[in-house]
Amino acid sequence: MRFCTAPTTAATAATAETTETITLPNITTENDDDEDDEEDYGHDHDGKKKNNNKYKYTYHRHEKLTSTLQSESNLKKLLPTSPCRFLLSKGKDGRKTQLSKDTVTVVQHNNDSESSSDDRIMIKYPKSGSTYKIRKEYLLPIIQEDNQIIVSPETDIYRKLCWIHTIQDYDYFIEIGCDFGFTSGNVICKNKLGIDKSKTSIDVAQSNYPTDQFLEIDVLEITVQEMEDILIQYQLLQQQDNNEDEDENDDDENENDHGSRLVVAIDINGNRELNAVIQCLDRVLKCWKPNLVIVKSRSLYSKLIDMGY
Ligand SMILES: C[S@@+](CC[C@H](N)C(=O)[O-])C[C@H]1O[C@@H](n2cnc3c(N)ncnc32)[C@H](O)[C@@H]1O
Repeated sequence: MRFCTAPTTAATAATAETTETITLPNITTENDDDEDDEEDYGHDHDGKKKNNNKYKYTYHRHEKLTSTLQSESNLKKLLPTSPCRFLLSKGKDGRKTQLSKDTVTVVQHNNDSESSSDDRIMIKYPKSGSTYKIRKEYLLPIIQEDNQIIVSPETDIYRKLCWIHTIQDYDYFIEIGCDFGFTSGNVICKNKLGIDKSKTSIDVAQSNYPTDQFLEIDVLEITVQEMEDILIQYQLLQQQDNNEDEDENDDDENENDHGSRLVVAIDINGNRELNAVIQCLDRVLKCWKPNLVIVKSRSLYSKLIDMGY
């Protein structure tokens, strides 16, 4: 995993005129112990002083988590219990496109040379215990860690990343740039919201998915307060600190014991206008502090390559 050593300047991102001057917002740095980081935010929603480093994020190009699992070091990060989904069924163009219904785990190889030379990987179905070999490029690991940003240049993989990273009953999902609702409409979770600045898109999305919540708004035009209020208004406030405020003697099993997650997906500008994507990302990280962000953007993806990710 690569860390950017440049200081974080979200404001630079928001006002950058060219892609060369852009700095990614809220990035993890090697100086994260610095308590005087001016760009960090001082307080949580409830007014408590917070740990600033908690809100630093790590960026990934999606295939570093998926098709380049050929690297043994990446594979080892997954073993042995990390959940994964995988792609199956060839589409018309011969590519595997359909997402597995089951969540599986990777089976650890005893023999390292065997695993690294093989382009296939052994997966295990947790319920039946049966095993099966698939090509590594078809594996989609489900990221467990908080404060991660996954960037994909393609809509197809972006959608699948959204669909595998939410778990019914516990997670919240927001998509900025939901268009006709196809991505958000197929997410299964506790509560979700599709946002788009186009009235036509929101009208179509609402008729496609009548029980889902949609909001017609331009996220780059609203105030920070309005942005923060969206979480309250649409009941999307995640439990960030599991059990922290609970009565120690309360041993009731409830959803807080599992720690709900907020997953935010951003797909606002086709393949252009990196600045708008960066501005949107900056606002999302500041105002919503999501656990995971999934971005579809070719320009941000290229930027990550330029930065050595
Ligand atoms: C490529 S489409 C999204 C496709 C959709 N995510 C899907 O999977 O089908 C991009 C959408 O972003 C919306 N959009 C662009 N800028 C926006 C902004 N600042 N705020 C909200 N929506 C925005 C556009 O109206 C458009 O519908």
